[in-house]
Amino acid sequence: MSELVRILIVGTGHMAQSHADAYRTINDALIVGAVDTNKNQLGEFCERNSIKNEFTSVEDAIDWGKFDAVSNVTPDSAHYPTTLPLIEAHKHVLCEKPLALSYQQAKELADKANHEDIIHLLNLTYRAVPAVQKAAQLVSSGEIGNIRHFEASYLQSWLTQSAWGDWKSSPQWLWRLSTEHGSNGVLGDVGIHIIDFATFVMGQMPVNVSSKMHTFDKMPSTSPKNQIGKYSLDANDSFVMCAQLSNGALGTIAATRFASGHHNDLRLRLYGDEGGMEVLFENNESRLNVCIGDNLKDAIWEEIDCPEVPSNYHRFVNAIQNKGEAGPDFYRGAELQSLINKLLRDESASF
Ligand SMILES: NC(=O)c1ccc[n+]([C@@H]2O[C@H](COP(=O)([O-])OP(=O)(O)OC[C@H]3O[C@@H](n4cnc5c(N)ncnc54)[C@H](O)[C@@H]3O)[C@@H](O)[C@H]2O)c1
Repeated sequence: MSELVRILIVGTGHMAQSHADAYRTINDALIVGAVDTNKNQLGEFCERNSIKNEFTSVEDAIDWGKFDAVSNVTPDSAHYPTTLPLIEAHKHVLCEKPLALSYQQAKELADKANHEDIIHLLNLTYRAVPAVQKAAQLVSSGEIGNIRHFEASYLQSWLTQSAWGDWKSSPQWLWRLSTEHGSNGVLGDVGIHIIDFATFVMGQMPVNVSSKMHTFDKMPSTSPKNQIGKYSLDANDSFVMCAQLSNGALGTIAATRFASGHHNDLRLRLYGDEGGMEVLFENNESRLNVCIGDNLKDAIWEEIDCPEVPSNYHRFVNAIQNKGEAGPDFYRGAELQSLINKLLRDESASF
């Protein structure tokens, strides 16, 4: 029988419930404690999930010490300062994306995790989407030939409707709109997902990129303008990136929070010299369509069956038990952060 992996959840807000629900489906994992700087939030979360040990700082939890692994679900700006001491305490860490706010911080975490020989995994959720894994396999086995063109988009609309709550009154959305609160805007928040989605399936990072991003006036009549309470709404809302692969292939990668009509949809279209491919994650379901071989002439697309893949949480626990590999790791987090930070500085970059 495998040994139990004792999990500490750090950050008990919105996304933490998905982590808790996921660990509950894993026989060998047990959530033994939780940390949040907001005592009310912590108390409600622990009661809802029957968690006995509550801490208001990572340091207190480390002093207690009776856990093996951590799910870090704090806001983006807290990932680096909370993950660092946990790695130093030799705890395995699954960290929410983005790994940190800068490449330097992300690389430091990756190097420290590697040095401590812990399991480290960045929660790029869409790696656990069956169509994404199958698409990556088909591209790598040459099914669509050489990639010549691509388009990828991540479409959210929480700024134009209230399905996920009212962004104007909810700290969970307001920190995402404010650079002072550690947000790199839509590029840093879900842009990282679609960049990973596209480049993982293609099996390569772009060699050069240029981008355009925009922050809309969302509260034009407040004084100062675009301010809600302590949150200045200055982080980017939309971005479009033009990217080039080493063989010259060109494509666009885009994300927005203004995609009215879409709650949370991701799309990737790849065009190779021997076929086309469409990877879709829409309304929480994934599909993979291809147009290859004899179907090219008549532009007939066929849906491909994609086997289930284990969740990131399953792979994290398995890797701790030496039963498999965990990835994407913190080095992948640093690689993605490098691209994002270059775009935030210059809106163009070569590698
Ligand atoms: N992988 C995904 O698909 C996905 C989806 C949603 C959110 N996320 C990521 O999850 C993270 C959390 O997002 P959320 O929507 O749950 O945010 P949230 O604001 O709802 O929750 C964050 C919680 O962390 C707590 N916190 C802040 N600083 C802390 C600290 N130093 N120590 C302990 N707790 C602290 C806050 O009090 C809050 O309760 C973000 O990094 C976000 O990018 C990832």
